[in-house]
Amino acid sequence: MKRGAEQIEINEVAPRDGLQIEAAQVTTDAKVDFVDALSACGFARIEVSSFTSPKAIPALADAEAVMQRIVRVPGVIYTALVPNLRGLQRALESGVDELNLVMSVSETHNRANLRMSREASQAQLLAIIEQANKVGVPCNVSLSTVFGCPFEGDIAVDEVMRLASTFVDAGARGITLCDTTGMAYPNQVASLCEEVLHALPQAGLTIHLHNTRGMALANAVAAWQSGVTRFDAAAGGLGGCPYAPGASGNVNTEELVHMFECMGVATGVSLDRLLAIVSTLPQLVQRDFTPVLLAAGPRLKLHPAPAEIAF
Ligand code: COA
Ligand code: ZN
Repeated sequence: MKRGAEQIEINEVAPRDGLQIEAAQVTTDAKVDFVDALSACGFARIEVSSFTSPKAIPALADAEAVMQRIVRVPGVIYTALVPNLRGLQRALESGVDELNLVMSVSETHNRANLRMSREASQAQLLAIIEQANKVGVPCNVSLSTVFGCPFEGDIAVDEVMRLASTFVDAGARGITLCDTTGMAYPNQVASLCEEVLHALPQAGLTIHLHNTRGMALANAVAAWQSGVTRFDAAAGGLGGCPYAPGASGNVNTEELVHMFECMGVATGVSLDRLLAIVSTLPQLVQRDFTPVLLAAGPRLKLHPAPAEIAF
């Protein structure tokens, strides 16, 4: 089997991508406790919240309070999603370590999610990168729907490459290829990741997968084999975009960690600590669900042999 890197980095996005779509009212205290618990797991990055319009994403309207109250663990990069210049001001005032800017490669999804044209989004993001670079705050740009859009279908690879290189040239430190509604499949992921890594080796590539159609882990392996070393993932497989029909959870962090650790790839994440957090998620989001790895346990969690069998 073709191997990728021996070590990968995980960006835990459940506090943002996960909580943005939950119907439950999660208190600021509970969000802070969630992020603080995640901080002890060994993630490279945690996406804490988003500085979006509270009308668009009411669940994350308390981004300032959450950012202010979390206990920052040295070595963890605390990021937040920013869609426009107003969001930039709020994020800078809150002292985020890195900004995660967002726009869609699909015109229709961009208008649904961000209520502006792609041209307007691109202009805002370029202005944000310029201002953030002046004050030394790095920007990552997440490009939504690159593997398919629920309104437009397949997305032209040339458009993905054009936008990625525009932002890298403008000084973005990272590009995330987002499979917003789980439309990606493994050889498509491999092909686009290889193209970006080849054409833009300085892009700081991250892959953001959703498991809408059960292909997220297969896509993660394909990305890893292509040379990708940074993965977004959400504990418990929470997540989804409220402005993309049919969107559901991100690739599940504990499954991603478990899979890569089985394969001998270091993730830096403590699976035990993470599973302890995952067991609290149904209470956090106030709905019942059973994360499969929590139910089954890691693969070498063995069971006593049945008493009646004889050797
Ligand atoms: N933070 C807080 N408030 C903001 C804001 C921001 N980043 N951007 C705009 N607003 C406020 C404005 O002040 C204005 O408030 P008012 O009605 O009290 O005057 C209102 O929102 C509308 O502003 P406008 O610039 O017209 O924004 P819009 O309604 O066209 O929405 C976005 C544009 C980008 C702000 C909004 O669509 C958004 O936040 N989208 C994020 C979607 C998202 O996070 N999706 C999931 C992740 S990909
Ligand atoms: Zn997402």
